[in-house]
Amino acid sequence: MFDWFSLNDSSIATPGELEATELLRSDHDSIKELFDRFKKAADRRAKAKIAREAIVELKINAVLEEEIFYPAVRQRVAKDVMNEADEEHHVAQVLIAELEKMDGHGDHFDAKFNVLAENVRRHIKAEECELFPRAQNSGVDLVKLGRRMQHRKELLLAGESGPKFHHRAASSRPQKS
Ligand SMILES: [Fe+2]
Repeated sequence: MFDWFSLNDSSIATPGELEATELLRSDHDSIKELFDRFKKAADRRAKAKIAREAIVELKINAVLEEEIFYPAVRQRVAKDVMNEADEEHHVAQVLIAELEKMDGHGDHFDAKFNVLAENVRRHIKAEECELFPRAQNSGVDLVKLGRRMQHRKELLLAGESGPKFHHRAASSRPQKS
């Protein structure tokens, strides 16, 4: 198991390092760009390929938020904001699971993907406008958090996430109180 203490423990970002919220904003921009490309893509193959890429990025983003970012800020951000974020992730996970079964085909594939995209766009807006500013004022060390998230992201991209990755969002939702 990875030892988090072996990561640089400084609260000052080194050149190129992103704070947690900056890293997530950058990932959000990339996801929204894929949604735009899906809309403009002319043929089925192109749409299926873009949808696959978007789903991988959405899953990585969900893991980073649910495993690292949300737990770090949950106690310092209004409970209703966090609970809504949890539920929005859950809805996205349900749609993603259905889209994966369709593998780019089927009558409702485009409609389902576009509904996912609209939901995720709203969710991203809520995170960036409500959650992130609260996190930035919470006293949480966003440099250290960003470092942990970047490391986790690299493991996910390298395929070292294991089967947990595929169903993680649905299986590990925080218990509602
Ligand atoms: Fe999110």
